[in-house]
Amino acid sequence: MRVVGISKRLGGRRILDAIHLELFKGQTKVLIGPSGGGKSTLLQCMNYLIFPETGFIELEGQTIDPRNTKALCAFRQQVGMIFQDFNLFDHLTAVDNVAIALRKVRGWSRRQALERAMAELERVGLADKATLYPAELSGGQKQRVSIARALAMDPKVMLLDEPTSALDPELVSEVLAVIRALAQGGMTMVMATHQMGFARAVADEVLFMENGRIIEQGPPAALLTPGAATRTLDFCSQLEGGI
Ligand SMILES: Nc1ncnc2c1ncn2[C@@H]1O[C@H](COP(=O)(O)OP(=O)(O)OP(=O)(O)O)[C@@H](O)[C@H]1O
Ligand SMILES: [Mg+2]
Repeated sequence: MRVVGISKRLGGRRILDAIHLELFKGQTKVLIGPSGGGKSTLLQCMNYLIFPETGFIELEGQTIDPRNTKALCAFRQQVGMIFQDFNLFDHLTAVDNVAIALRKVRGWSRRQALERAMAELERVGLADKATLYPAELSGGQKQRVSIARALAMDPKVMLLDEPTSALDPELVSEVLAVIRALAQGGMTMVMATHQMGFARAVADEVLFMENGRIIEQGPPAALLTPGAATRTLDFCSQLEGGI
């Protein structure tokens, strides 16, 4: 996927300023930076939940035309999105949350969709919770259901916006373990997060974003090694110092 010269203004302010980003197959990139820097806006532009004013997105060499509704729908199906607050349907069980898009969007039969949904729940370690409703699941389990739901659509890219920041601390690691396994399995992803341990261990590249721009980027070893004179390390030292 390529992000080419994306800019966005909101409320008279420039929120994204000519962002370029190239994401190769199998890469994991981590977006970090201060609150309000534009991370969520960028991720939402990357699947056209928000329409940028200038610039465009390319997927596998094809430029997406967001005015073409059919093309936009097809594109969105190939880009999985994970939000901080899970976005599950409260009136559906875990397995139905995963199966519903397969039935409604892909037109699969109930049996086929449930079979696939069970396989995805198994992949995130939740086969035994399939018949529970979101209210009966922990935050970490809900987030894993939402990851299973995205995976069921066979996305080419996953965009994750602070997937663990709404979780109690003891639930963070189960979700990070699932995401790490995806990264190691070759999924292509961009993830906004403040989890520096994850960034160090899993990211191919860290992008530091501030005031709508990517102001530093590189492998974690270059940006986050103790002593590196980078904005990224300054910022992370503050985070890890505990606020
Ligand atoms: N609908 C909107 N109208 C006006 N300004 C907006 C709107 N949505 C976001 N913004 C502004 O855009 C800027 C970037 O917001 P964004 O949510 O992308 O930042 P972020 O890096 O994800 O921050 P955080 O770390 O807090 O999640 C912020 O200053 C925010 O106030
Ligand atoms: Mg955000």
